[in-house]
Amino acid sequence: MSPDRDMPLRNLIALDALSESQLTALLDAADTYLAAPGVLPVRGKALAGRTVANLFFEPSTRTRASFELAAKRLGADVVNLDFNVSSRVKGETVLDTVYTLEAMGASIIVLRTSEKGVSALVCENAGPATSIVSAGEADQAHPTQGLLDVLTIRRYKPDLRALRIAIVGDIAHSRVARSTIRALKILGTTDMRLVGPAPLLPEQSEFPGTTIVSTLAEGLADVDVVMALRIQKERMASADLPDPRDYFRQFGLRAENLATAKADAIIMHPGPMNRGVEIDDTVADGPRSVIREQVRNGVAVRMAVLAAVAETLRDTGGGQTP
Ligand code: CP
Repeated sequence: MSPDRDMPLRNLIALDALSESQLTALLDAADTYLAAPGVLPVRGKALAGRTVANLFFEPSTRTRASFELAAKRLGADVVNLDFNVSSRVKGETVLDTVYTLEAMGASIIVLRTSEKGVSALVCENAGPATSIVSAGEADQAHPTQGLLDVLTIRRYKPDLRALRIAIVGDIAHSRVARSTIRALKILGTTDMRLVGPAPLLPEQSEFPGTTIVSTLAEGLADVDVVMALRIQKERMASADLPDPRDYFRQFGLRAENLATAKADAIIMHPGPMNRGVEIDDTVADGPRSVIREQVRNGVAVRMAVLAAVAETLRDTGGGQTP
């Protein structure tokens, strides 16, 4: 079945506008692209003849590599541009970079940016035969991370409405938290606890329906899922950074302070992890950790999203630039 169950997906720069059925359809499509570890990856032709340009103006390991693999596994040509090797260092604007890639035939632009509002600006100004897919924007949105997180959770805990989840750490500066919470909300999850020290917690009004908790013991009580987040040093003044040893003592995930979570709770982290600060080795590499599965599921989710936008481009007459 087409991933566009109720309306076509032209761009993906946030999850806010997605309906439950549209989001579920993307997850169902991603499931079809998953292969068991050790088995050759699933391939397809949904992007045959297309060019995907990865524009990463912030560092990335997982997202960049997985978008590249996803596009190649669906038959696309792929161009990768990072800030330091692009003409943006010479002063070229993001829009001129996008126009340049469109002129070379790129019809799907994957964009990571530290600047709030740039993804929407690019969507407004890109050509009629171009789709924009966010790979993370400032502290605002990381939609494919939100999708891969809920895909990973759904594979272990299919009843998302009954789910209890604790998100631990730097929620205030986290685009992952914003997108994952949005995805869970769309899918009906109601028990979401945001756990961390006061300077790293958001305003309650930004996340209506969630519970803000200041201790790990309370936040993790009876939860099915524990998700640790990285402290986003690059988005904070150094004076506001918590002391790493204090933080690890109070909020770092260790076997002993996971005791109040359910025995079968899964442990997640979007990466990159700061071991010994947000999580210790025995938890990150332990039997309840699904952190590497999140990475694996990320390729499948990005295949589903790229295939969905390519289908929309095809149906609306958007091919390659002639
Ligand atoms: N989770 C995530 O966005 O990781 P990268 O920054 O390595 O892409």
